[in-house]
Amino acid sequence: MTTLADILTELGKAGRRLDQLHACEAQAGNMSVALAQAPDLSLFPDAEDYVLPAVVPALAGWTVIVTGSGTRLRDVADEPAACLAAVQIDDDGVHAVLHSAPTRSFARPTSEFNSHLGVHADQVARRPGLGMHTLVHAQPRYLVALSHIPELVDTTAMSRAITRWEPETLIQLPDGVGVLPFAVPGSRELMDGNVALLRTHQIVLWCKHGIMVRSDDGPLSAVDKVEYAETGATYEYWNRSGAGSGQGLTPDEIRAVIAAFGVQTSLY
Ligand code: 13P
Repeated sequence: MTTLADILTELGKAGRRLDQLHACEAQAGNMSVALAQAPDLSLFPDAEDYVLPAVVPALAGWTVIVTGSGTRLRDVADEPAACLAAVQIDDDGVHAVLHSAPTRSFARPTSEFNSHLGVHADQVARRPGLGMHTLVHAQPRYLVALSHIPELVDTTAMSRAITRWEPETLIQLPDGVGVLPFAVPGSRELMDGNVALLRTHQIVLWCKHGIMVRSDDGPLSAVDKVEYAETGATYEYWNRSGAGSGQGLTPDEIRAVIAAFGVQTSLY
């Protein structure tokens, strides 16, 4: 079984990698891991009643390890007890117990916790047997820059734009990224959009804001997907900025990659 220590280590490495990618400036970004089995919570000895910001009966009995609002993702590795809480969800899916450490540096979980809970609950309800599910919100610069270009505020157009530079991108992100038009941070609209688009895509791009990525394989695997998408966005930005006059992979080259790797994609 994955232990809490393993999860905290991965969250710490994920936060550092996002920082290296310039995808979590200052207090931007948040992460959570939902666990079917309650872990040992001795790192978080304080407990308080907590009303969840979304109603999630599918998560009854689950524990969600989550970053505190206003914490820096780059600090999670060195100070997990200061940056994280463990939220144990009651049977009604409305109430919970919030476990934390005396050294915690935040008042409440991330302001995007409604989206985290909504997506975890939707994935758990649709996929019986899932024991762990990770979500990361980050703000990668080139993906966000491209999301300001009106013609790219479209899932197919954006996905083709970022998957046309390297074979890896399409192999790793066969569905590309789902694109959500701008929605106010923390809003019900953003939560509902995340729930819907993360059914069909592993990454959803929140226009003019950032991304949310989901993974069954833990925080580092989630961040790998961000890295693939952001690299594709970097090439596209470079080309559009006038620095390059790149052709990108041709239709024949893309078809050859799809055939060679058996990529299941509806993008091409
Ligand atoms: P929190 O610090 O509340 O997680 O907010 C950061 C963020 O990126 C909101 O979109």
